[in-house]
Amino acid sequence: MAGRWALEATELREGNAGLVARPRRLRRLANLRRLVRETRLTADNLIYPLFVVHDGREEEIPSMPGVHRWPVELLVAEVEQVAALDIPAVILFGLPAAKDAEGSEAYAEDGAVQRAIRTFKAAVPELVVMTDVCLCEYTDHGHCGIVRDGQVLNDETLDVLGQIAVSHAAAGADVVAPSAMMDGQVGAIRAALDEAGFPQVAILAYAAKYASAFYGPFRDAAGSAPAFGDRCAYQMDPPNAREALREVAVDIQEGADMVMVKPALPYLDVIRQVRDAFDYPLAAYNVSGEYSMVKAAAQRGWIDERAVALEMLTAIRRAGADMILTYFAKDAARWLQEEG
Ligand code: PBG
Repeated sequence: MAGRWALEATELREGNAGLVARPRRLRRLANLRRLVRETRLTADNLIYPLFVVHDGREEEIPSMPGVHRWPVELLVAEVEQVAALDIPAVILFGLPAAKDAEGSEAYAEDGAVQRAIRTFKAAVPELVVMTDVCLCEYTDHGHCGIVRDGQVLNDETLDVLGQIAVSHAAAGADVVAPSAMMDGQVGAIRAALDEAGFPQVAILAYAAKYASAFYGPFRDAAGSAPAFGDRCAYQMDPPNAREALREVAVDIQEGADMVMVKPALPYLDVIRQVRDAFDYPLAAYNVSGEYSMVKAAAQRGWIDERAVALEMLTAIRRAGADMILTYFAKDAARWLQEEG
């Protein structure tokens, strides 16, 4: 590579006008730019996250303007809109009627997520329904697993994660997405799904999920901030990238169909490295904090929301993500339609 560029540099001055390489030639016209564009962002790439509650009215999440908690009954109209925008998938997060130490509503047949899927699936049969498989929204301590003596227990949590995944599959989920960051969670869920007669249900593994401060607004939305300590003993340490490749490799060995890097923007390098190392479909989660920062700055008139959001999503695609979980999905799909 270096040699090629060096050679071109010596030729740069040989043209009549003094410059051979004029990259601006291909930037002159909008349609020329379209022709040479290397990265595409379309609705095909988007997954819309939705928060589900049992009942009441829809409530906007204060730290996430434009994002709501949807009661089961009102979710039907919302997912119909998502499908009408040609967004291929949603991912559901549930809020329980009551939280307890074991997070037992996470796998209840009549939990908010399970009820929601049963209620809207027939209305939007083509929409891919993904579910987040974790305990933190359901436990009173807010941790992603079973806690004993102040420790989040790994292997004891695996059975519960399997039960949650099976309950989502039984309700009609197409893809389950384990996000608890317990070792062995993908294998445990694959085995539980197969045993329960759901071999067709796919797994999107939150493989490289970092212990990130960018989840702040989500924890407001789900009331899932840990009551003590933090998640650093199970989520990944932000300075590590090679470790992300090991996490992804393990999840693929355990049966993940697709893998994820999360968050997205502060980890574009990790997305690129995973893309280069593995031939598996790769998702990136443009998380709540990434969304809310744009919203807050836009509300103050400091940035152009639409341009910034589309640039961010395009950057995540350019880094190598096939699909993006983003709270901008509906707006982005609309904006992209307008741009034709
Ligand atoms: C865990 C989960 C979290 C997010 C997705 N799944 C929160 C966490 O790990 O604390 C964060 C998503 C976001 O910030 O948008 N169930």
